[in-house]
Amino acid sequence: MTQAPLLEFSGVRAQYGPVEALKDVSVHICKGEIVSLIGANGAGKTTLLSSIFGTPRASAGKIIHRGEDISRLPTSRIARRGIALVPEGRQIYQDMTVEENMMMGTTPIGMNHFDEDRATMFQLFPRLKERRNQTAGTMSGGEQQMLAIARAMMGRPELILFDEPSLGLAPLIVKRVFEVLSEIAAMGKTIFLVEQNANHALKLSQRAYVMVNGRIHLSGESAALLDNEDVRKAYLGLH
Ligand SMILES: Nc1ncnc2c1ncn2[C@@H]1O[C@H](COP(=O)(O)OP(=O)(O)OP(=O)(O)O)[C@@H](O)[C@H]1O
Ligand SMILES: [Mg+2]
Repeated sequence: MTQAPLLEFSGVRAQYGPVEALKDVSVHICKGEIVSLIGANGAGKTTLLSSIFGTPRASAGKIIHRGEDISRLPTSRIARRGIALVPEGRQIYQDMTVEENMMMGTTPIGMNHFDEDRATMFQLFPRLKERRNQTAGTMSGGEQQMLAIARAMMGRPELILFDEPSLGLAPLIVKRVFEVLSEIAAMGKTIFLVEQNANHALKLSQRAYVMVNGRIHLSGESAALLDNEDVRKAYLGLH
């Protein structure tokens, strides 16, 4: 590590009742990086992202953001530190319009930049502009994913956590989602990407971690992981 990480998990454990979902997890993300986290269903990927916001709380270890241990901070204070989550399953407000959903995304910073940031998002997602007054729940899965991303961006986060943004989408839309991630990185955002689509995720990211059963089993440069035949077969579901 040449620079101090922007976000670091150090020996983090977390449980749901008797179930230990994270077992001594250490992961770091530096400013400007795209880092991916790959793993099968139930590996603990969503739990790792949620633990940043304290649900569940880390029962051991530290979550360090910009040099400060945030693992005991209230959730509302953490969102105001410039960390946004694009959650698994989009979680958009179904009964609200596209624009109202985008307004909700400004919560950490207030409405001062709303017009400017909405224009930027409408440029990135022309479809959302066309549908600005549509009820969000009536949109397609791909459109809802774009909205979930736009909503997160409205809070001007420095670091964005994406939880399986390509899940359940058609191949062309998946391709578009990964293009958007790359455009967002080019806008200066740091990205921590949880994916089951190992191929796409490793092509986009610089570094990656592979999680198995609540532990990090493997980590390294994404290109090297993609090139390693054993890794591809054993962990990535690729041949
Ligand atoms: N709210 C909860 N209460 C109890 N157990 C939970 C809860 N959420 C997750 N778990 C358990 O914790 C483990 C990790 O789940 P998690 O959702 O983090 O996995 P994941 O890697 O995100 O999986 P997926 O790819 O299916 O989204 C699983 O065994 C799961 O059953
Ligand atoms: Mg998950």
